[in-house]
Amino acid sequence: AAEPLVLGIETSCDETGVGVVRGRTLLANAIASSMDEHARFGGVVPEVAARAHLEAMRPTIERALADAGVTLDELDALAVTAGPGLAGALMVGVSAAKALAVALGKPLYGVNHLVGHVGADLLSGEGLREAVGAVGELELPTVALLVSGGHTSLLLVRDLVGDVEMLGETIDDAAGEAFDKVARLLGLPYPGGPQIDRVAAEGDPQAIRFPRGLTRPKDLERHRYDFSFSGLKTSVARWVEKFESEHGGDPEHPLPVADVAASFREAVADVLLTKALAACRDLGVPRLLLGGGVVANARVRELARERCAAAGVELRVPPLSLCTDNGAMIASIGAQLVMAGHAPSGLAFGADSTLPV
Ligand code: KG4
Ligand code: ZN
Repeated sequence: AAEPLVLGIETSCDETGVGVVRGRTLLANAIASSMDEHARFGGVVPEVAARAHLEAMRPTIERALADAGVTLDELDALAVTAGPGLAGALMVGVSAAKALAVALGKPLYGVNHLVGHVGADLLSGEGLREAVGAVGELELPTVALLVSGGHTSLLLVRDLVGDVEMLGETIDDAAGEAFDKVARLLGLPYPGGPQIDRVAAEGDPQAIRFPRGLTRPKDLERHRYDFSFSGLKTSVARWVEKFESEHGGDPEHPLPVADVAASFREAVADVLLTKALAACRDLGVPRLLLGGGVVANARVRELARERCAAAGVELRVPPLSLCTDNGAMIASIGAQLVMAGHAPSGLAFGADSTLPV
């Protein structure tokens, strides 16, 4: 089919995502999130996520089909996130997709989650006008910076279905995870990213100079495009401890939460964009695509615009509903695989929590 109708399933973390696309046209993007169930634990609990996927899978598939106005019989293919992600969570999606593929006699494609984030930028359709930069016109090669609670990766994408190179990734915490942990430290609720973003708006980003992980000349030799956020988190914790030991309980000296949040957010945004633009420069790629939930961050977006403009790099940011984990991005890559004539994955693949790109 020239414009294959593909249903995509995504369960790598805490959102059950089911999307339907026809070629590059978005028809449906249904999401059920178990975020609320994780809130009291301060982070995603793998077993809770897997069980929530199991419960949400069927209704979310039904909602996506209804939104798209299509039936299962009309589908040309199915696609599912094979990894990377939480093993138990991935397994629910992969099992559901295999069961559907067998029952319907339709081809099934296993898709890499990170490649899926890039595939989100191919889609156009109703309600996608909030995008910065035109949607659906992704040009290659591009550097992609994918930042969420589960991953922080820098990719070089030459061909979405055949030539994606991992340039670097976090060697410890994901950036979103750092936001969540620092928020907890400051007494802000989960998920912490949006909270820090809100509080930081009132603070001075230059108030405290927090470390930029893996940016010293010696680190750059081995980790030019890798990230590290655990040192930053520890540094914030130490700063808060020291402040409390000096001023704890003094009503004249409350913890300057806004300044800490703004300075922390600045450190994260700075290191993310410094490394992403270094990759664009080193590799001569004049394009940067952002993806993942942390793209919602106001300072990350602002700094991306500033630095890309200064460097003559085209910045692409899909609408937020396609930046956070979703099934449409997986369906998008599925459609690309069909159109490029790739053979289906069959049933011989499994959920792989560390699947390489
Ligand atoms: O892509 P996403 O929805 O999927 C998962 O990783 O599950 O990303 C969620 C992450 C969380 O860590 C959340 O704190 C972070 O993205 N996040 C933000 C913002 N909004 C969400 N981080 C910083 N600033 C934000 N405005
Ligand atoms: Zn993701």
